[in-house]
Amino acid sequence: MTGRLIAVEGADGSGKSTQARLLADRLGAVLTREPGGTPLGEAIRSMVLDPDGVGPVDRAEALLIAAARAQHVAEVVRPALESGRDVVTDRFIESSVAYQGHGRGLGAEEVAAVSAFATDGLVADLVVVIDVDDETARSRLGGALDRIEQAGDDFRHRVVDAYRAMARSEPERWLVVDGNGSVEEVADRVAVAVAGHFSST
Ligand code: TYD
Repeated sequence: MTGRLIAVEGADGSGKSTQARLLADRLGAVLTREPGGTPLGEAIRSMVLDPDGVGPVDRAEALLIAAARAQHVAEVVRPALESGRDVVTDRFIESSVAYQGHGRGLGAEEVAAVSAFATDGLVADLVVVIDVDDETARSRLGGALDRIEQAGDDFRHRVVDAYRAMARSEPERWLVVDGNGSVEEVADRVAVAVAGHFSST
């Protein structure tokens, strides 16, 4: 039996990295992240996110992230699933559709097609999006901002709207979890929602 692949998604400032870690702990799942998860992927992550780095144009950004994803799926995600482990990934294909497709305006279908090539067709069994109001997102976006976080409020709003629209269009594969409140409150909401989803599928 293969494991289940769960992607935790959300705009910058949503708190999704914390929630991905807590969900992986509760499920005993492999925790990984994108862009990253492999040495090549982490190198690409620095190239894409460093504000003083190589400064890829939007299409190069999309392709670099997709290359990191290809490596991540081949080296980490697929082997873990095939060995029967569940995998929780902090961001996956849906980040590219939201950020590059909608945020950068490259087109959702084109970006999804690049990701499908990268993953050789693998998709998440379940996407959990941590949804917070704008004030919460701003307050959690402290410290030094990476190159994509620096894209600004309009960009972030397009990303948030894209997640909400994707969740509406595919409700059988998406869970929208209210990310406002304490870490523990949100973690409990995520755990209950995920357990409910898998007990009904
Ligand atoms: P993020 O996951 O928010 O990490 P941290 O919590 O450490 O800040 O940062 C990753 C950034 O990469 C985020 O701004 C979104 C961006 N990103 C994309 O634009 N497209 C993608 O496909 C992925 C995976 C990430």
